[in-house]
Amino acid sequence: METTLIILKPDAVQRGLMGRIISRFEDKGLQVVGAKLMRITPELAAEHYQSHQGKPFYDGLVQFMTSSPVLVLALRGLGSISVCRKMMGATFGQDAEPGTIRGDFGLSRSFNLIHGSDSPEAAAKELSLFFGANEVLDFERAQAGWIYDMTGGSAE
Ligand code: RTP
Ligand code: MG
Repeated sequence: METTLIILKPDAVQRGLMGRIISRFEDKGLQVVGAKLMRITPELAAEHYQSHQGKPFYDGLVQFMTSSPVLVLALRGLGSISVCRKMMGATFGQDAEPGTIRGDFGLSRSFNLIHGSDSPEAAAKELSLFFGANEVLDFERAQAGWIYDMTGGSAE
């Protein structure tokens, strides 16, 4: 099982889209194992977007991400990192395919609603950046045996 870090960005929170976006992930079968409404500090934004430092959009990105609260989620499931990236859609709203979160809910380049880890290495780093050790939970879901084929002893 993989766990990925998702951020519902300030525009998603302000536009009241949190519930609808979380529902998409729950409908897919992903398990919410961490959730936190928080205000990102400039220091945390700088750490999180370290790889974008020096790019033309960097200052605006940090300004946006720290401008209002975000909802941070840890989502667990088979292949959750790439599954979530596909569900998010292309980076810019006007390019994102209908049926994706960015494709269905936005048009902007910068205000693109959601962040998702893009690799196992990024997920590990980002989860430890945004969640304390006890804030990502391990628990059984009642319907687990119907989301995955568990007859072989592991999730298929
Ligand atoms: P994210 O990191 O937020 O999940 O998005 P991403 O992988 O799809 O896109 P990435 O290339 O990592 O860019 C990070 C965020 O920077 C903003 N951006 N703005 N105006 C621009 O040209 C531009 N380019 C990137 C977006 O908010 C993007 O999500
Ligand atoms: Mg990225």
